[in-house]
Amino acid sequence: MARDLTQKCREYRDSADARAQGFYPYFRRIDDTVGNHVVCDGQTKIMIGSNNYLGLAQDERVIEAACDAARKFGSGCTGSRLLNGNIRLHEELEDALADFLQREAVLLFSTGFFANQGAIATLTEDEDAILCDRENHASIIDGCQFAPAKLVPFRHNSAVSLRNRLKRLPEECGKLVVLDGVFSMSGDIADLPPILEVAKEFGAFTYVDEAHALGVLGPEGRGTVHHFGVNDDVDLVMGTFSKSLGSMGGFIAGKRDVIEYLRHKARCFIFTASLAPAVVGGVLKALEIMRAEPERIERLWKNTRKMHQGFTDIGFKIGSTQTPIVPILIGSEAKAFRFTQRLYEEGVFATPAIYPAVRYGEAIVRTSYMATHTDDDLDRVLEIFAKIAEELGTFDDPAYQEPGRRRNVFDFSLSLSNGSEPMHPEVQDPSRNGSHLPETVHPAHR
Ligand SMILES: Cc1ncc(COP(=O)(O)O)c(C=O)c1O
Repeated sequence: MARDLTQKCREYRDSADARAQGFYPYFRRIDDTVGNHVVCDGQTKIMIGSNNYLGLAQDERVIEAACDAARKFGSGCTGSRLLNGNIRLHEELEDALADFLQREAVLLFSTGFFANQGAIATLTEDEDAILCDRENHASIIDGCQFAPAKLVPFRHNSAVSLRNRLKRLPEECGKLVVLDGVFSMSGDIADLPPILEVAKEFGAFTYVDEAHALGVLGPEGRGTVHHFGVNDDVDLVMGTFSKSLGSMGGFIAGKRDVIEYLRHKARCFIFTASLAPAVVGGVLKALEIMRAEPERIERLWKNTRKMHQGFTDIGFKIGSTQTPIVPILIGSEAKAFRFTQRLYEEGVFATPAIYPAVRYGEAIVRTSYMATHTDDDLDRVLEIFAKIAEELGTFDDPAYQEPGRRRNVFDFSLSLSNGSEPMHPEVQDPSRNGSHLPETVHPAHR
């Protein structure tokens, strides 16, 4: 008899258990957005769970530009760029980004996820190796798994680990070193100079995902590679419009011949509809505003420094973040869910991150800040976090008391204070985004 494909669906209980216990944190419905506040369940909440770093998603000029583009070109392009869906605005945005990033050419993708998947899978071949930081975003990991090349993970942000991995590869094999410029969960910045030096020593092609760095780091918000002054040492940069530029979509920027190749070969570019006119019109305006109003980035950093200091003063561990992404260590996954629910009840919108997005037993509430948050917003957030930590005994959690022991588990039916039976018993190793990956993975062995 054929295997029942939906058995796992009928047996899936996680979300129902969380709902039954009153702390399901996902798919919260937003009924209205007013600046950096949202209205849910009839109540206004301070949003600290968004990547809208510069507040441009709500900017009237951006919204107007999006509307203008829709009026002129329609609500969608109803086809691939390659065929019928290439409008003037797509090319204008590619030119504007190439100029901004000081790159020869740019190619837009319908999402940042597709940009990573398309570039990584299209550029590598069977005999190549992709050297991937273990904390890279899921879209990079998926791109690697999709690619014909061998996947070789290296220790997070470690040039030494990268070197050890590269040393073991045959000299003639093609090598792609890929990493986030700013890591999406920890908020730390890639240690690019030593990593690029090692990559260069081995003749590796280099690729940096600037999703969380665009509009945040470097002059005018040009990203990590400009922050370190290494733009010329990085072969390709990837970015998304779903964060500082307040919309959706992604891009790859690099040499003209590479971009030309991707335009004709990347399957998730060719076989999908192009970005809608409203999206492209809005992003073009957002980019213009970002360049013309550097005070937004300054304000973002002022808010970021305030929150780093504020959380640390209360006693929270915020890891190694150097950016507006501020992960608040909670420890127990059940507690992270409970903490997030209490935040919501107190008027703060944030989301938890649990394994495999973060290390097992080190669940966080992931927070991120915007240029448009006021001091009053931020003071209120800190006050509420302190109150809930006291109420839930956050600082008594093993993650605070016995770091590294990772006794915490994920099980909605456990008491909130502790637990002993993992809901994912198959998971033995502490893990982060891609750190569950074996040392090397080759398609033949999958
Ligand atoms: C580092 C990183 N890369 C890529 C992506 C995917 O971007 P998009 O939302 O445009 O698909 C994200 C989104 O969360 C991200 O954080």
